[in-house]
Amino acid sequence: MDNRPIGVFDSGLGGLTAVRELKRVLPGEDIIYFGDTGRVPYGTRSRETIIRYTKDDIEFLLRYDIKLIIAACGTASSVALPFLKDKYDVKIMGVLEGACEEAVRVTKNKRIGVVGTAGTVKSGKYSEIIKSIAPQMLVFSKACPMFVPLVENGYADSEAARLIATDYLTPLKKENVDTLILGCTHYPLLKNVISDIMGSKVTLISPGELAAKSAKEYLLSEGLLKEKEDGGNCEFYVSDSVENFESLGSTFLQNNIEGKVYKAEAF
Ligand code: DGL
Repeated sequence: MDNRPIGVFDSGLGGLTAVRELKRVLPGEDIIYFGDTGRVPYGTRSRETIIRYTKDDIEFLLRYDIKLIIAACGTASSVALPFLKDKYDVKIMGVLEGACEEAVRVTKNKRIGVVGTAGTVKSGKYSEIIKSIAPQMLVFSKACPMFVPLVENGYADSEAARLIATDYLTPLKKENVDTLILGCTHYPLLKNVISDIMGSKVTLISPGELAAKSAKEYLLSEGLLKEKEDGGNCEFYVSDSVENFESLGSTFLQNNIEGKVYKAEAF
C-alpha cells in the first residue's frame, strides 16, 4: 500500500482526459495535476524545447511526494520521455505504449493510423513502438496541428472542425486503416467528428484512457495502490491563468473540476 498521490502532467488541458479515466479506474487515488498552460502548445516546438519543458514539468511534480508520474501528453511522451524517463527515481509512464499495444490487439487488416501534433509525428515513436511489438503492421501517420487550437477554443464540435478534420483524415481513410490512434490527449474531444469522417468501422484509440489502465496495472503489480478505494482528491496546478483552466477544464473532464486549482509557484 502507498498513500502518496499520482502526479500527472500535460502541456495544458489535454491531460485532463487521462485524469477523467484515472478517476474512473482508480477512484481512491489522490492526483496532483500540472498543466503548463503558460507555455502550451508543445507540439509545434523544437525537440530541445520540448525536452526542457518536460523536464520542468517532471521537476515541478517532484516537489510533492508522489509515487508515479504520468506524462499525459502525446508530445512530451514521444519527444522527451525517451531522454528523461530513466533519469529520476520515480517511475514515469508515457501514453504511447498502452495505445500501441491496444492498436496491435484490435486491428484486423494490420493497417494502423496515427494522428498527433507535428512534434509527435516527426518523432516517429508511435510507429517505432508498434513495429517493435508487431513488425508486420503498416503505420500511416498524419500531423493535425489545427486540432489543438480548435479544441482549446471551444470549436471541437463545429463545422470548422469537420472541414479541417476531413482534410487531415482523408489520406488515412484512403490508406484503409481500420484502427486510428488519437495520439494527442486533446483529440478525444474531437472523437465524434473524427468518427463521422473515418466511419464507424474504424476503431479509435485514446492513449490517455489506456495510460490510466496501465497505471492501475503498475500500482497493482508493485503493491502501491492507496489503502482507501474511493474518495480520492485532485489538486490542479497551472503555469498561467487559474480562471481559464477552471472554465475550459470542465469540458475535458466532462464534469466540473472537483478539486482546487492553484497557480504554480515559481514557474
Ligand atoms: N497535449 C499535447 C499532446 O498530447 C497537445 C498540445 C500541445 O501541442 O502541447 O501532444
